Amino acid sequence: MSKRIAVAGKGGTGKTSIAGLIIMYLVKAGKGPILAVDADANSNLNEVLGMEIEETIGNIREEVNWSERTGTPIPGGMTKTEYLNYRLNQAVSEGNGFDMLVMGRTQGEGCYCYVNGILKNQIEKLSNNYNHIIIDNEAGMEHISRGTVGKIDLLLLISDYSRRSIQSVGRIKELAKELEVDVKSTGLIVNKAPGGKIAKAIMEEIKKQGLELLGVVPLDENIVEYDASGEPLINMPEDSPAKEAVKDILVKLQLI
Ligand SMILES: Nc1ncnc2c1ncn2[C@@H]1O[C@H](COP(=O)(O)OP(=O)(O)O)[C@@H](O)[C@H]1O
Ligand SMILES: [Mg+2]
Repeated sequence: MSKRIAVAGKGGTGKTSIAGLIIMYLVKAGKGPILAVDADANSNLNEVLGMEIEETIGNIREEVNWSERTGTPIPGGMTKTEYLNYRLNQAVSEGNGFDMLVMGRTQGEGCYCYVNGILKNQIEKLSNNYNHIIIDNEAGMEHISRGTVGKIDLLLLISDYSRRSIQSVGRIKELAKELEVDVKSTGLIVNKAPGGKIAKAIMEEIKKQGLELLGVVPLDENIVEYDASGEPLINMPEDSPAKEAVKDILVKLQLI
């Protein structure tokens, strides 16, 4: 069975950056095969990892939905299920030591239930080929709540270094419970903490929200610099404070 790790939290807290670094360390530690799932509609996990994406699940969904609405036959005389399967395999991009699947977005109207149902099945099947699946989410956790990506073994809640952001991940944790998302364990990572330290008041808020603090990732000038120049974060020097912190968290969680 594959281990599924998902990140969640408000926009801009560092989910994508941290997910990217986690993938990098899992690859380095030889924990493959690894599937990276970009489940954010404004997908950019590929940039952190320095790779190009050609196809998204959203595009495929649009395409099949369009052919249904307009009565356009599926190419090659395939059934819809066969065609979806064929296209889904095309949507798996190969990175350096891992594969990536991008959910993308759906714009059209009408019911996608049929397509979603098939895709859910196929993603489930595809997942079985991997040891680790890392899912980068948007705050709403649409794909987790819809069950597109199945159960989650470890939900990493990513927060900024602020009381409000801690409160916000507290709400996400509650939301996951309300939506009855199948999550085995949940933990908090506080990101962008100046000097990697946490003040007492923030610590109190973490306790108040009933969150388990897994680790603190410092505010890292290298990330700012690499982001500004469009360089993949995974190429940052090994002694970058954020990189070291993510590595420590993975060691602590016995993931690497
Ligand atoms: N530890 C950090 N130190 C400095 N900047 C960071 C850090 N983590 C993330 N950032 C920056 O914060 C912004 C949001 O990060 P991102 O990973 O895209 O967040 P999210 O995926 O949660 O929206 C980006 O500009 C990123 O470079
Ligand atoms: Mg993101």
